[in-house]
Amino acid sequence: MEHAPKRVLVCADLDTVQDGTVEPPMPSPTEDSKTSTTAPNAFTCIAPDVRLGKNVKFSKFINLYGCEVGDDTKIGAFVEIQKNAKVGKRCKISSHTFICEGVTIEDEVFIGHNVTFVNDMFPRATTNGALQTEADWRVETTLVKRGASIGSGVTILANVVIGEYALIGAGAVVTKDVPAHAVVSGNPGRVMRYFESRGQQ
Ligand SMILES: CC(C)(COP(=O)(O)OP(=O)(O)OC[C@H]1O[C@@H](n2cnc3c(N)ncnc32)[C@H](O)[C@@H]1OP(=O)(O)O)[C@@H](O)C(=O)NCCC(=O)NCCS
Repeated sequence: MEHAPKRVLVCADLDTVQDGTVEPPMPSPTEDSKTSTTAPNAFTCIAPDVRLGKNVKFSKFINLYGCEVGDDTKIGAFVEIQKNAKVGKRCKISSHTFICEGVTIEDEVFIGHNVTFVNDMFPRATTNGALQTEADWRVETTLVKRGASIGSGVTILANVVIGEYALIGAGAVVTKDVPAHAVVSGNPGRVMRYFESRGQQ
């Protein structure tokens, strides 16, 4: 994404604006993403290392750290976006969605409610009896291409590419690449049909 890095608030109150979304207050450049989550009375946490584009709109109870979010994107309540995740411009990220490290979401993508991404296909809590650290596993990636829509309650496994303007039906589990303009549903996700042209119903 082309926007310049920008420092923003850490776990501070937000001012409600007319359309029900909230605007971040002034930045708090001294805190980092780890301390930000402990601030009292906070209802949204946007770490100073988050790179925000222009006019990004937030609901409440949001946790963002080390990620990028493009211009005019809207982020719903209870969304977490982890470090090294990228969200493009003019995207809608609905409430209760989890976007983990390794996920790239291009411009104009719709993400429904309670969508879960995955970045470790064989997770373990420990290695040799000790809690795993980042050194013990490798982040696996996912790409959602421009204009795609992900329905509510979808789980997208790692190492998958969702094609441009594809639509994933509610509740699907996506286990493999989805072609552009495909409509996919079920567990495992299967192509139901294709849109005839870009973005068409
Ligand atoms: C996938 C989807 C686009 C299909 O819509 P559609 O093309 O109009 O499909 P239909 O409703 O005609 O259903 C066709 C068949 O697929 C099944 N089906 C539809 N959606 C399904 C889904 N999400 N998962 C599994 N099966 C589904 C139907 O039961 C029907 O089966 P049948 O032929 O055995 O009766 C739509 O159902 C969907 O899930 N949209 C996403 C909605 C969403 O999550 N929005 C988020 C914001 S609120």
